[in-house]
Amino acid sequence: MSGIETTGSKRLVLVSGRAHPALAQEIAEELGSELVPTDARTFANGEIYARYDESVRGSDAFVIQSHTSPINEWLMEQLIMIDALKRASAKRITVVAPFYPYARQDKKGRGREPISARLVADLFKAAGANRIMSIDLHAAQIQGFFDGPVDHLFAMPVLLEYFKEKLDPATLAVVSPDMGRVRVADIWSDKLGAPLAIIHKRRDPLVPNQVSVHEIVGEVEGRVCLLVDDLIDTGRTIVRAAEALKANGALGVVVAATHAVFSAPATEILQSEFIDRVVVTDTLPVPEEKRWDRLTILPIAPLLARAIHEVFEDGSVTSMFDGAA
Ligand code: R5P
Repeated sequence: MSGIETTGSKRLVLVSGRAHPALAQEIAEELGSELVPTDARTFANGEIYARYDESVRGSDAFVIQSHTSPINEWLMEQLIMIDALKRASAKRITVVAPFYPYARQDKKGRGREPISARLVADLFKAAGANRIMSIDLHAAQIQGFFDGPVDHLFAMPVLLEYFKEKLDPATLAVVSPDMGRVRVADIWSDKLGAPLAIIHKRRDPLVPNQVSVHEIVGEVEGRVCLLVDDLIDTGRTIVRAAEALKANGALGVVVAATHAVFSAPATEILQSEFIDRVVVTDTLPVPEEKRWDRLTILPIAPLLARAIHEVFEDGSVTSMFDGAA
């Protein structure tokens, strides 16, 4: 039987949707555990079915799913998996959604808009989830959308570890690509001992995914600029920012982002001559055809495994970040 037996009565159960099986497998290996074999299928009309091949009764269950494209399908699959756990008498159910779906729809910017990030939290709750675990939420206040514990993890230690030896604080500037990321970029700037610059980005509310840069606040001339963002979707935010930084005298541009959504045309435009390197984590799968030589993908499984371990053992998730945010 899969799962860890502890000295008490607790039993850890890890189950995974079909979106990013490699990540779930790595998490299980990190934990010295195994994924519970699951029969998940899609019927001819698009309906999804999931059944666990083993008992999950009384377990502390973690349902891992990466919300990549087709995002609605993977969200529905995770909801169905939660429902199956609930009806099979799992004692506690934690949603592990490394990239929180619909996080960018976290408020009404204009009249008659939905707050889809809240709807997603309600759906998880209605399905039977007791807790949520996610990484670098687009807005931290999304934690409050779910009426229960939310473990908000940060990829910063993983990304920082990569950059630590590679960047010289004396010639570095940390850059926030828009106003929404200033707080996070400020923490990066503190950690790296480098000054902060901020880009004033504009979006056309009527045209999705279009971006223009208005001005840069802060000193970037003669500096290597580290652009930090939570996610890269079409890549336009980052590419426009890199162009503007280079036009303002930046020596080089490197990018650190947690979630590689990489919708078209991201892969093409991120290979821009203005960008020296893009560093992301594998919260979302990045297929071979979306990789290029100046892309680095860092494994996020150790961070998730440690957080799952802390939750399971009633330890401290906060202690993992040592004041990172
Ligand atoms: C914006 O608020 C986010 O932090 C990202 O910068 C943005 O969503 C990325 O989208 P894209 O890559 O399509 O410009």
